[in-house]
Formats: sequence, C-alpha cells, structure tokens
Amino acid sequence: MAAKRIIIANWKMNPSTFRDARRLFDATKKIAERSPKLSFVIAPPALYLRELASGRSTRVAFGAQSAHFERAGSHTGELSMQQARDARASYVLVGHAERRQSGETNDDTRKKVAAALAAGLTPILCVGESKREQGGEHFEVVRAQLKAGFADVADAKIPKVLVAYEPVWAIGAERPLSPRDMQEMSIFIRKTLVDSRGAGGHALKVLYGGSIDETNAAAMFKEGEIAGVLLGRASISVEHLAPLAAAVSGL
Ligand code: PGA
Repeated sequence: MAAKRIIIANWKMNPSTFRDARRLFDATKKIAERSPKLSFVIAPPALYLRELASGRSTRVAFGAQSAHFERAGSHTGELSMQQARDARASYVLVGHAERRQSGETNDDTRKKVAAALAAGLTPILCVGESKREQGGEHFEVVRAQLKAGFADVADAKIPKVLVAYEPVWAIGAERPLSPRDMQEMSIFIRKTLVDSRGAGGHALKVLYGGSIDETNAAAMFKEGEIAGVLLGRASISVEHLAPLAAAVSGL
C-alpha cells in the first residue's frame, strides 16, 4: 500500500478555550475517519495536549509545537520532550519559523532533534529562508539549517526525522510556494542529506508548509514530491480542512 499522506495540523495559539479545542478536535477526528489515505497529526497548544490525546483515537496522532532539549530543570514556561511524550505526543515541531523568530537558533535545533529522538518522539525539523533572492541564497540557508539539525543524529536514524520546508515568506501569506519550486527543494533536501550523511537521506520524508489550503494542496502533493503538508490556518477551520482532506484523498 502507498504511504499515507501526512497532514500536520499546527493549531499555534488557537483556539482560546478548551471547549472550542475539543470541538475542533472532534471535527478533525471525523474528517480523519473518512480519510483512510491520510495520516493526521494535531499539534495543539501544550495545555490541551493531554486531555485531547486521552481520547485514544487511532486515526489522529499528536504533536507538541515545541519542546526544550533539557530533560528537566529551571526553564520557566518550557516543556520537556519527556513531558510531551508523557502527555501522549508522538511528534514535536523543531525550529518552526515563529520559534526561530523568537530566538531559536540552529544550534538549539541540533539539540532538540537529538533530544526528541532520545525521548521517543518523531521530530519535524522546520527549515526555510526568510526571503527569496535571485542568486539561490535560499539553498544555502536551508543547507545550513539541515546541517545543524541533523548534526547529532546517527546515520541510521536520519529517515526517522521529518523535514518540513516552510519558506518564512509563504507562512501566513496569500499563496504558497509553487509546486514546481517545491519539487526542486524536495530534491535538494534529500540530495543534501545523501551527500553529507549517506544513503539514509534517500528515505527522508519532506513536507511543505506555508499557505496551504483546499485550493492548492492537491497540486502540491501531485507535483511537489512531498510526503505531507503542515497546516496553520487551514487546520483550525473545518470549512477549509474538510475539502482539503477530500481533495488530497482523491488523488
Ligand atoms: P499557514 O501556516 O498555513 O497559516 O500559512 C503554516 C505554518 O506556520 O506552518
């Protein structure tokens, strides 16, 4: 059977109440139940994680939006990988653009990817340039982010990390990167890993994130050489998520 297409629902700092979070979760679960070709991961605000995940849906997995690389200690406001795991997360976003903007560095992502794997979580390493210029500088930005993020990952574990390419300029924007440009980037990401770290890079799953909705998701899967998408806005609105799932399921 073909690998399931991955849909990551990054709720960010939404919704405002647990009651609404429960509603959104129930609606997402229903969509997941009628989309057997898709694999859903919800990354809710950490405060909602344990209770939503206790529903034990077999169709929806959970992720943390961020977690610290230390196991425990004096880190006010933080969450550890072990705590996320204990609350039944099985994924964690690392280096999301909004975290990088508030200070997360490439070196932090190096420690976080390794800490996630050690805690039994699947890291989703987010990479992407802030702006695109003519000279192809974005490839160098992504190369450096990949190099750092994978630095402490054993060769054999490389395929266990998901890479989400999210050009910062396409997040919260009007339209995504073109599928053709994504295809080029998917090839670049895998080639970079193969060249630097060996054959494990061939099996790497690459995702795309940034302004994906029901109008553009199918084309991105068809032409972008991606294993999944990371959704922001479309993940918190059933009006967008339901037709998106239908469009991707129909491919
Ligand atoms: P968006 O966010 O879908 O709202 O553009 C994407 C993301 O931040 O992953």
